[in-house]
Amino acid sequence: MTEKQYGGQTKINKEKGTKAKNIAQPTKLIEKSKKKVAEKNSEMDDEEKIIEAGKIASQVKKYAKEIIKKDMPLLEIAEKIEEKIIELGGKPAFPTNLGINDITAHYTPSYNDNTLTSGLLKVDFGVHVGGWIADTAFSIDFENSEENKNLIKASEKALEIAIKTIKYKVTLNEIGKAIQNEIESCGFSPITNLSGHSIEQNELHAGITIPNIENSSMTKLEEGTYAIEPFVTKGSGKVYDGKPSGIYILKDYKNARSQTAREILQFIIEEYKTLPFCSRWLVKKFGTKALFGLRELENNGNLYHFAQLVEFSHSKVAQSEHTILLKKDKKIVTTI
Ligand code: CO
Repeated sequence: MTEKQYGGQTKINKEKGTKAKNIAQPTKLIEKSKKKVAEKNSEMDDEEKIIEAGKIASQVKKYAKEIIKKDMPLLEIAEKIEEKIIELGGKPAFPTNLGINDITAHYTPSYNDNTLTSGLLKVDFGVHVGGWIADTAFSIDFENSEENKNLIKASEKALEIAIKTIKYKVTLNEIGKAIQNEIESCGFSPITNLSGHSIEQNELHAGITIPNIENSSMTKLEEGTYAIEPFVTKGSGKVYDGKPSGIYILKDYKNARSQTAREILQFIIEEYKTLPFCSRWLVKKFGTKALFGLRELENNGNLYHFAQLVEFSHSKVAQSEHTILLKKDKKIVTTI
């Protein structure tokens, strides 16, 4: 899942959060299931969890490529991907993003969505193990179109060259330049206001953005986990904020007025923490009253609501993404 530059605050106000009082207490049931997961994961250290999340993501990607067909409901795809993640011992790190054509990112099916696959589809999903995340994406052509295929190939080649370029202490400029050059040599443009990102535990966008274009940043990459995700188009190369996506992230723990909103907030704090989630997941848990609760929490300032990101000139966009664990002496592509 990508990060839009200057797209508003998508990180939780931690200071406020830790100071906030009246945080709802977790129920016994949640405590119990947390304990189970904790036991299962207690054998692994953080790095092993990062690797495990990547391994699951890679298996889910293979599975997704097998099952996704033309005219299949996006809702079914998202649910199957998310079920598979759980079956393999992970949890979804964010709602499965399924963007068709110019819908570049931050589209996840709503609980009653009836959109079918068509055109150029981007499949972007995440897995976490104990909060340690793997973020990966690929694109599929449903029109047997040369242009779609070329867009996809360009995004894959740009990702490949970015992976080759990434190393300890490389500058963000070097990575962005490599991505841009590759995409332009294929005759296309990168989406300039979307970027890759650093990842930390329970933080999908952890502060460092990895641009898909040449830039002036001399910031050097330290050891850590990074998602690289070039987006390729023949259009304007920018996205704008479209309709609300139904994808949210917790930004403030302060209490809400209604009982429903309070219940939902408690569930979000326990289940998703500071990772993105969607209305579809909450409708599954609470029924359609979740939609009113979410609106209240959004108005109350508890949640940030992501907008769908749409290519400015309504051109098609392809995307490829991998997560990389970077060490001083090596890099591991966790999602390969
Ligand atoms: Co991402």
